[in-house]
Amino acid sequence: MGKKASDNNTDVATPYQAIGGEKTVEKLANRFYDIMEQDPFAAELLAIHPQPLNNIRHVFYLYLTMWLGGPNQYEQERGHPRLRARHLPYTVTPALKAQWMYCMRKAMYDTVDNIQLADQLLKALDQLAEHMINQDDNA
Ligand code: HEM
Repeated sequence: MGKKASDNNTDVATPYQAIGGEKTVEKLANRFYDIMEQDPFAAELLAIHPQPLNNIRHVFYLYLTMWLGGPNQYEQERGHPRLRARHLPYTVTPALKAQWMYCMRKAMYDTVDNIQLADQLLKALDQLAEHMINQDDNA
């Protein structure tokens, strides 16, 4: 009669639901690129991005949606993420990672009200970003 822990899984909100779903993720992705476009600290990061940013705004939104536990339209459109491989054509240095995290940190705190959850997500994104590094700063 007792419920197994696994029976309750459907009751546990995904981060996608917890932050407010589609609207919030859309805001997070757009805020991230707005900051990248406007803040001089991210100038180098902006410079390696193909312009205009319309396409990557959409693709990054789809990726974040999937990553947060929402609908998986990303894989339907783009296939398996293979995120590190997709970044290999670009020079990703520790300095660029710092710029990426700077934009994401600002966008996250602007968008997600729950600071604890925001910090958890930023910690996981930091590990992901670290994994994208494919060159030294002075290479
Ligand atoms: C560490 C520093 C990073 C740099 C310098 C960087 C840079 C870039 C660049 C230049 C592109 C190509 C944009 C385009 O095709 O228009 C790209 C694509 C992408 N990045 Fe990053 N990125 C970084 C970290 C991350 C992280 C941590 C994530 C995930 C949370 C991420 C997710 C993506 C996605 C989903 C794409 C598009 C992949 C696709 O084509 O399907 N990036 N990134």
